[in-house]
Amino acid sequence: MLILGIESSCDETAASVARNHTEILSNVVSSQVEEHKQYGGVVPEIASRRHCENVLPVVQKALDDAGVTLAELDGIAVTAYPGLIGALLVGVNFAKGLALTAGKPLVPTHHLAGHIAANYIAHPELKPPYLCLVVSGGHSHLVEVLTYTKFRILGRTRDDAAGECFDKCARAMGYPYPGGIHLDKASQSGNPKAFSLPKPKIAENAYDFSFSGLKTAVVNLLHNAQQKGETICREDLAASVQATISEVLTEHTIRAAVEHGYSTIAIAGGVSANSGVRESLQKACDKRNFTLYMPPLSLCGDNGAMIACAGSYAFDAGIRADSSLNASATMEL
Ligand code: KG4
Ligand code: ZN
Repeated sequence: MLILGIESSCDETAASVARNHTEILSNVVSSQVEEHKQYGGVVPEIASRRHCENVLPVVQKALDDAGVTLAELDGIAVTAYPGLIGALLVGVNFAKGLALTAGKPLVPTHHLAGHIAANYIAHPELKPPYLCLVVSGGHSHLVEVLTYTKFRILGRTRDDAAGECFDKCARAMGYPYPGGIHLDKASQSGNPKAFSLPKPKIAENAYDFSFSGLKTAVVNLLHNAQQKGETICREDLAASVQATISEVLTEHTIRAAVEHGYSTIAIAGGVSANSGVRESLQKACDKRNFTLYMPPLSLCGDNGAMIACAGSYAFDAGIRADSSLNASATMEL
């Protein structure tokens, strides 16, 4: 089975061809990060315009690299939600046109189902059910993966997503966008116990997350130090932020696993590239004899392979769309 996956939900135009769900024949990503960097974040209109320019050559290269023709495909999967609406619309409309022209089924795919599926590519032995922590720039979800295409959300963020918190703290500390990776690098030489930062608990749902208090604490700390003419060791603050986020994510994930009887855990999304998060979860899982699956760093961020893989499972489940398919900025998993 050959599925083409197209992704354009944020600032990466990406496409990939997957054979039999997890065998990735090509994986082409055109990133706009350098252009958005100068504005300190993704500018939605610029993102849409770049997708418009890039989607055809990226899809063409994905087919060429895979040595596959349009006629040989079994289906065309596309990220239809959630994401930046103008960005999503480019991929969705392109996929609709392609599916119509080639006479192939169109498979609408959820971006977070894609992130989760990145684990199947690296670890085909991973099979539902299991618990997955999905942490990206826009989401922090604790998800029960019931089947390849059915999910139940146990917890979610009440405010900032984990990636957003990393990026906002990094920005306040003077690192360029996207700051998560810079904060991760700086943490390597910092003291994670240098600063005590808030770890809020949500009374109504112990699995929910809240990261805006941590971000505010970091901004206030930097502001107060500046007012007093004091200098703060950026590496120490970075390491403290990373340790706090890692602890919160780990505590919630392990608690949910214990309380719902899961001994298999996965992590997915851009923040699953974070070294502190990976180490902290690995340690906690080792302690309890839980098995932890993590995507390789190359598949943590947005890419087409994860959509081709998730789209393959959606195809099997009979999920289809016709030419009335629309994109949506928000959508439950
Ligand atoms: O999944 P993703 O590529 O895009 C969304 O769907 O949002 O996630 C991007 C997020 C950004 O906030 C980025 O800073 C964060 O993932 N990220 C990291 C690291 N690498 C990417 N955050 C912390 N440490 C990293 N090493
Ligand atoms: Zn993503």
